[in-house]
Amino acid sequence: MKNLGILLSGRGSNFEAIARNVEAGKIPAKIAVVVSNREDAPGLARARALKLEARFISSQGKGREEYDREVVRVLQQLHVDLVCLAGFMRILSPYFVRAFPRRILNIHPGLLPAFPGLDAQKQALDYGVKFTGCTVHIVDEGVDTGPIVCQAVVPVYDEDTVDSLSARILEEEHRIYTEAICLMLEDRIRIDGRRVLLRK
Ligand code: GRF
Repeated sequence: MKNLGILLSGRGSNFEAIARNVEAGKIPAKIAVVVSNREDAPGLARARALKLEARFISSQGKGREEYDREVVRVLQQLHVDLVCLAGFMRILSPYFVRAFPRRILNIHPGLLPAFPGLDAQKQALDYGVKFTGCTVHIVDEGVDTGPIVCQAVVPVYDEDTVDSLSARILEEEHRIYTEAICLMLEDRIRIDGRRVLLRK
């Protein structure tokens, strides 16, 4: 059985969707640890309520790589195979990315490469696109630049606010994150340059 490590900073709805699907046997893995850089993250409390290994690792007074070394140590001690960023509001150092080559996933609430970075839903609304969506990608050393594993398209309606659009995108996030995790865990993909292809 493979081990997942989930990193979050906030609400944790993606983590909860993953936990539900692990519980339901839809994801062939176990959640070995949930790590948060915020002590008050609701996702961390939820992980504790689910009796999962949940760690708050403070970043206060630590440099980026120093912090990442601490997180990587925990993930390695607990034999994590695949790291899932689920609303983890920190950019990973090259040290972290190299410690888990092609074994870190991130979910982004936009159709990359459009609207990377923060507030992707607001960026999409302000730009006036008629469709946006979400992307699960492999984390490389850039910000939201890694090879794309799964995407889902979501329409933008005239009446939309950032909240209503975010909610519509979030439903798809919960669905495709599990899909991408399964593809990775079951080794059903191969990577050709930037392209993530299904193995024949
Ligand atoms: C999601 O919109 C995700 O795409 C982004 O951060 C948000 C996290 O939400 N990376 P949650 O904490 O999983 O509810």
